[in-house]
Amino acid sequence: MARALVTGGCGFVGRHLCDRLLAEGLDVVCVDSLKPGTGAKHPLRWRRPSVNFVFIEEDCRSYFETSCEHFDYVFHLAALVGGRMTLENETLLVVEDLAVDAALWRWVSEHKPGNVVYFSSSAAYPVAFQTEEMQTPLSEDMISFERSLGVPDLSYGWTKLTGEYLMKLYVERYGGRAIAYRPFSGYGEDQDLAYPFPAICRRLVKQRGAAEVTVWGSGRQRRDFIHISDCVDFVWRTMDLLPTGRSLNVSTGCATSFIELAGLISEELGWSPKIVGTTSRPEGVFFRCGDTELQRHFGLAPQVSLKDGIRRSLDVLRARATHR
Ligand SMILES: NC(=O)c1ccc[n+]([C@@H]2O[C@H](COP(=O)([O-])OP(=O)(O)OC[C@H]3O[C@@H](n4cnc5c(N)ncnc54)[C@H](O)[C@@H]3O)[C@@H](O)[C@H]2O)c1
Repeated sequence: MARALVTGGCGFVGRHLCDRLLAEGLDVVCVDSLKPGTGAKHPLRWRRPSVNFVFIEEDCRSYFETSCEHFDYVFHLAALVGGRMTLENETLLVVEDLAVDAALWRWVSEHKPGNVVYFSSSAAYPVAFQTEEMQTPLSEDMISFERSLGVPDLSYGWTKLTGEYLMKLYVERYGGRAIAYRPFSGYGEDQDLAYPFPAICRRLVKQRGAAEVTVWGSGRQRRDFIHISDCVDFVWRTMDLLPTGRSLNVSTGCATSFIELAGLISEELGWSPKIVGTTSRPEGVFFRCGDTELQRHFGLAPQVSLKDGIRRSLDVLRARATHR
């Protein structure tokens, strides 16, 4: 049976990934330090104990210092991410991810697991393509270490870009197999409220019936929202097919503004408030949407529409409210 190490496996993406790997019959070792300020949840809150799931509560850096175990797959998700507030205001906090990623690439270069799956981010793309004037769908080849590089999104983006460069060195100089994914705005029912999708859903449920509601920034900024089940499915279906050293978007190709998102959510709630931006809150880049050509080449297409994703999240919020 194949064995997988998942760092950061108790976070939002990690929980869904661990569940999928276990459902597909892999043995999973999940190393997570349950870091405050992240989307971490203790496994007792999201899965029943099972023999093929081992949880180690530890910083993956110290795990890497002592572990010589062989894994068929290493999924590296451990990171300090947080929402836009963290990315904008804690820029020197999230650079801890540079040290975490350095520890990963050094460890895999010594132990050579079967396949290293690195979770990069759409934040690694040059921000110059993401302005109101440019509004360019971001394609994988826009990041090339053979040409000059554009400036990514803050220290978080630099970290992911550096992580991808270290992957390149691992593949080319150490002969390892590794691939990277660049998720866009992954969302889902159990996501931390630091992220726009769950935050807007919750705010609108609370304020239902109000004449006016707010979203962050101008509200005109657009994101490519992709449901977490599609994110994990895209990874599962391509992780053995993607050529070593390559990166793949995890995106839908549809850009939705925050005002449009709030409009869809309020429509589902059966009311139509005026939706306005809040300039005192950060907006991030203006337009971030993933090109999907390479994903389509691998036969990938999202199965959960944004409307369905909204319905699912609102159902969970309503169920929670009636259980209180
Ligand atoms: N959620 C998205 O849409 C999205 C988009 C782009 C990229 N990503 C990437 O996917 C990965 C997972 O993101 P997420 O949304 O699940 O974040 P999250 O905050 O929900 O999860 C991160 C997890 O990493 C753990 N962690 C942090 N530092 C650690 C360390 N040193 N050792 C062990 N565990 C550590 C945390 O405890 C947490 O459980 C990250 O690398 C992130 O950059 C996610």
